[in-house]
Amino acid sequence: MSADPVPLEETLVAEREQWPDGPPHELFKRLRGECPVHWSSKMSEYPEEAGFWSVTTADDVHAVSRDWQTYSSATGFTALTDAILPLELGQAMFIGMDPPKHDRLKALFQRGFTPKRIAEHEPAIREITRGVLDRLEGRETCDLVTDVAQPVVARVIGSFMGTAPEDDEIWARLMNTTLGAGDPDLNPEGVQTVMERDVPEIFARCSALIAERRENPTDDLMSVLVHADIDGEKLEEHEIVMGFFLLVAAGNDSTKATFCSGMRALLEDPEQRQLVLDDPSLIPGAVEEALRMFPAFAHFRRTATRDVELNGAQIREGDKVVMWYVSSNRDESRYEDPDHFDVRRNPEHQAFGAGGRHFCLGTALARLELQILLEETLARYPAMELNGRPEFAESPFINQLKTLPVRLRP
Ligand code: HEM
Repeated sequence: MSADPVPLEETLVAEREQWPDGPPHELFKRLRGECPVHWSSKMSEYPEEAGFWSVTTADDVHAVSRDWQTYSSATGFTALTDAILPLELGQAMFIGMDPPKHDRLKALFQRGFTPKRIAEHEPAIREITRGVLDRLEGRETCDLVTDVAQPVVARVIGSFMGTAPEDDEIWARLMNTTLGAGDPDLNPEGVQTVMERDVPEIFARCSALIAERRENPTDDLMSVLVHADIDGEKLEEHEIVMGFFLLVAAGNDSTKATFCSGMRALLEDPEQRQLVLDDPSLIPGAVEEALRMFPAFAHFRRTATRDVELNGAQIREGDKVVMWYVSSNRDESRYEDPDHFDVRRNPEHQAFGAGGRHFCLGTALARLELQILLEETLARYPAMELNGRPEFAESPFINQLKTLPVRLRP
């Protein structure tokens, strides 16, 4: 007989034991059904911090995401804990701001993400992907995370931003230690090294690049940012540095995570994989389904600016409110058979946020990159098989595999 489940009022959603192997989908299902806005009274890892509300259904995530006046990104940071990145640092990135400050900065950054600039980058993304896959020739096995996804996403975001290829590994390491803080493999030296060592290194490298692009403009994103001008307004140096940090972090981590989770789903479901192999026009559908089922960021957070009721819960001013995309994207009121990976579903989803001011800036780039990665990998290795157990990063924030061992041509 199985043990009775812990009563929901005592359940702490973000505890490590809830996430032994990726997100606790069964727990989220219970929450959606029985307690859709749920209070976790504390986080054992950060005992000095208050607990948080979990928002688990698609409608409620949508409502929180749209109402920035009530659910602020600036009064607390957008991560579950305030302990890793000091608040002032978070608030210096536009993801940690509210309008009107946020909107001004985002508009300037959007200059770098026009459909034209992204479309122009397509041949480069394909060439980068093929080049990385070429390096696997002669090998029987590999790890899709470290041998394929990581080098591709690092070079794609690097070429877009304007960093040098020889620095890709350094940037990837800095982003892994910062976003993967808490995981013993991604951040082996512990959370304190993030602020003491890694963040200062990111800033120093970024400032050097800004100085260089001021002198010698090129056509990369850094040049666009350094010289961006809206009605005479330019970006300040610290705004560029913080935005750059945000973009490199988002670009390195999320696309890698989604590609690997999507590949794993296809490797585990030969029928779905065959559908895509027989009809590659289904690949964009496979990308959307991977985004839905495996959102690269499990959550983002807001902080309540006033007392408010949300779907029966009494939220108080100052409370943390966490939007769990890993839950809302499997909301049974929106999706039939939500735990089934179906490349023909073509779902709407909240992997990039649920609309609202902070909707992801990199959607077009991420979708293009994911599509090319899937196309090229499946075309080259149509019979690829899993070769051991994939492992999740230990984190309630980055929903990503840290290893995905495969046999290339069984
Ligand atoms: C599969 C890939 C990606 C996923 C799943 C993803 C997901 C997200 C999510 C959920 C948010 C919203 C956070 C919130 O509501 O607070 C966000 C924001 C953002 N993303 Fe992405 N992202 C991806 C790729 C990228 C890429 C490639 C870039 C840029 C190179 C990027 C840049 C950003 C930026 C700058 C923001 C902040 C927007 C704002 O605050 O207004 N993302 N992303």
